[in-house]
Amino acid sequence: MPNEVVSVNPAHPAEVVARYPVASTVDVDAAVTGASLAQRAWAEVPIPARAEVIARVGDLLAERKAEISTLVSREAGKVLAEAAGDVQEAIDMAAFVAGQGRGPFGETVPCEMPDKLAFTTRHPVGVVAMITPWNFPIAIPSWKTLPALLAGNGMVLKPSEHAPACCAAYAGVLREAGVPAELVQVVHGFAEAGAALTVHPGVRAVSFTGSVPTGRVVAAAAMEHGPKLVSLELGGKNAMVVLADADLDLVVDGALFGAFGTSGQRCTSTSRLIVHRAIRDELVARVAARAEKLVLGDPTDPATDVGPVIDERALSRIDAMVRAAVDEGARPAAGGRIVQVDSCDGAAFYAPTILTDVRRDHRVAREEVFGPVLAVIDVDGFDDAIDVVNDTEYGLSAAIYTRDVNLAMRATQRIDTGIVYVNAPTIGAEIQLPFGGTKHTGNGYREAGRRGLEQFSETKTVYVDYSGRLQRAQIDNRPPIGSEP
Ligand code: UN1
Repeated sequence: MPNEVVSVNPAHPAEVVARYPVASTVDVDAAVTGASLAQRAWAEVPIPARAEVIARVGDLLAERKAEISTLVSREAGKVLAEAAGDVQEAIDMAAFVAGQGRGPFGETVPCEMPDKLAFTTRHPVGVVAMITPWNFPIAIPSWKTLPALLAGNGMVLKPSEHAPACCAAYAGVLREAGVPAELVQVVHGFAEAGAALTVHPGVRAVSFTGSVPTGRVVAAAAMEHGPKLVSLELGGKNAMVVLADADLDLVVDGALFGAFGTSGQRCTSTSRLIVHRAIRDELVARVAARAEKLVLGDPTDPATDVGPVIDERALSRIDAMVRAAVDEGARPAAGGRIVQVDSCDGAAFYAPTILTDVRRDHRVAREEVFGPVLAVIDVDGFDDAIDVVNDTEYGLSAAIYTRDVNLAMRATQRIDTGIVYVNAPTIGAEIQLPFGGTKHTGNGYREAGRRGLEQFSETKTVYVDYSGRLQRAQIDNRPPIGSEP
């Protein structure tokens, strides 16, 4: 493994964006120890005061939005509008979490005995390890760090080797806003650094966003050296169902944004278009015509619709999956090829691709591509469509397009994913609501929303008995056996 993390501009791979030394095991240990010492003092700060610091994080991100968005675009290859959305998501998160600082942190519940009060509170877990991906290099660190800070934790971030400078910039904003310097540590590196962090005895919780195989390794290692609290946010094989009565103009716009936005590299990207046979040909023709017109180019150029994929390796993987799909019988209605963009020497571009004649058992219908590839699967009606949506090991996001409110509502119940959209694509979740998925997409936690705090805090149940006598629950308030009427 190299001893340096070198991030490059995906649109111009010869241009180095940043270099950081790879953290050794000793560096990881120092980071955890530093965060742990700082955490003790932070846990003493009243929660509304922690929230004020978090509110300042949002203000600073808003002030620097243009500058940070440009960095996101340069390091992660996201088109400027989407890079700005990434930063905005963190600004929104700061506003939401800051508000939680003056909101409920537990519940009071009636007791079964007289003169007794019960309530719950939340307590920090200690030091949290956060392993974050490159595709939302500001938003996802904010989903993890801001609730964790509010809950009173220290943390060590290990960002993807593709976007270390974005994470460093974000951590810089935290510090400037008043987060104690030692409390949020950043270590750079590859899998080894992540592994050293995961198994560190000073780390109590691990929050991971990335692929299913890596998530399994992280979770197993964390449990073996713990047990630790492990929250996983893994892949998706997100489907858009289009019933015969759908508004096709809306579907076309949604499919293009869902499948090809962020070059298909969101975990929520639309990768299956499950469409009623009666409208399939028309819909495919319309989406394909628009897909062919999308402008591929430098993501910092406002004229660009679709940027590059992250690197050459991703490009080969995507191309291999498309080729394998064609071998299995799929037919490209658009794209299906690697593209050279003259102004972006050596960049990895893949043409927005639509594959028809895909069957639900094909690999491309089951495995996450993480690239601009939309697999079209025909269905006979609503029940068939729901069956196909759920026929995957993932359960992150799904969408249904129909004008029939009854079917739409039934779909929200029957689709087995963490997020369901009606008449909107599978991407575009808002931070005040829980984000996460079922099945192999995760392990039951949700990020963002009011539940976002759960992965970074322990619940404590407190009973206060002010009766002045021993009151035995389940016993003293029940008649003796045999005396019931
Ligand atoms: C991701 O793809 O990892 O819902 C996160 C969305 C964004 C977040 C995506 N707000 O598409």
